[in-house]
Amino acid sequence: MSFTDKVFRDPVHGYIHVEDEIIYQLINTAEFQRLRRIKQLGTSSFTFHGAEHSRFSHCLGVYHIAKTITDYFTESSFIFWNPEENLVTQCAALLHDVGHGAYSHTFEHLFETDHEAITREIIRSEKTEIGQVLRQVSPDFPDKVASVIAHEYPNPQVTALISSQIDADRMDYLLRDAYYTGAVYGNFDMTRILRFITPIENGIAFRQNGMHAVEDYIVSRYQMYMQVYFHPASRAMEVLLNLLLKRAKFLYPSHKTYFESTSPRLVPFFEGTWVLPDYLHLDDGVTNTYFQTWETSDDKILSDLATFYINRRVFKSVKIDGPSDKRLSNLTELVEAAGFDTDYYTGIHNNFDLPYDDYNPETSRTPIMIMDKKLQLTELSKLSPLVQALTGERFGDSRFYFPKEMLENSVFTDYLQKEDLHS
Ligand code: NI
Repeated sequence: MSFTDKVFRDPVHGYIHVEDEIIYQLINTAEFQRLRRIKQLGTSSFTFHGAEHSRFSHCLGVYHIAKTITDYFTESSFIFWNPEENLVTQCAALLHDVGHGAYSHTFEHLFETDHEAITREIIRSEKTEIGQVLRQVSPDFPDKVASVIAHEYPNPQVTALISSQIDADRMDYLLRDAYYTGAVYGNFDMTRILRFITPIENGIAFRQNGMHAVEDYIVSRYQMYMQVYFHPASRAMEVLLNLLLKRAKFLYPSHKTYFESTSPRLVPFFEGTWVLPDYLHLDDGVTNTYFQTWETSDDKILSDLATFYINRRVFKSVKIDGPSDKRLSNLTELVEAAGFDTDYYTGIHNNFDLPYDDYNPETSRTPIMIMDKKLQLTELSKLSPLVQALTGERFGDSRFYFPKEMLENSVFTDYLQKEDLHS
């Protein structure tokens, strides 16, 4: 029986066409369907309530962009593109985030899970449905797909499309996150970028007529990080989540029966014995249910933090000069004097991003190249004063989080500059 095209209606890209049966089978695996149950933006939905979109929709979007580009490269018969790379590029795009878990970043920090290593394991394993589908192509195909995601694939055009300063992943998440958060920045003309993208000997470049669309993409990226991804309230929820899981992990050895009955799927992580199937059992729904049961725990700290988290009772914060800020010891002492355990009712959160980098040996990022009519390549920041202003600069801040009640303490607030406060 021959395969008939499938279409997915996507709010960002319109119709997404799946013309390859392997791609459709991958979408229908248990491991890929799990991504429907994991929010793309984690705690950002507590700030931007529209941002309920899932990792499933993002992965499908990245696949769509990669497919649009590989189809265009194939139709245009560019000399630096080999159409035999189309399927591996599209599979890598679809699967690049398949190892993300519930609240990955917080979880990784506390339980030493690594979503990139897990992505590769899901792809390579003979036991996962994804591994089995990929093996239908050829026995070494899972390794090829995994090596694209690990930036180890020998073909530089393929890796540039999946992971570079302007790749299918970033283009999708910026547009998607802007759409679902309702942000007016974050939009750029992707159709135009994709019209002028060109494979070159060592990666990809953009023809001159697409330059301003690429410039706009860099500016959008800067604005989305500053206005959406780094929002102090979303980070307050991340701090809270970290403290809540830290408390549970601390209590576990002396309260095993409690955690085995209220939150069994977290036990392998508390024990440090987790394997891939344990990881795949977790999603936002499972963890949120556990947090709700912890609200009634006998442990005051656990129940407090769970209640704060479930009801979005965020900590307030002030911008600091990093962990060596001289005010920190005084501020922490005052929180303690007010009766709070500072190990669980305060936190520091750092967020920094480099919107664009040109030739910098330290970051080893590949710069974005613009190709003129004579096929000469020039690095983007040399042509765009707007990009030049953002090049090589890190943007972001470090914040100290504390209970809201402290804002009523004038000794405490005297240490804080009003403009640095998020209250
Ligand atoms: Ni992604």
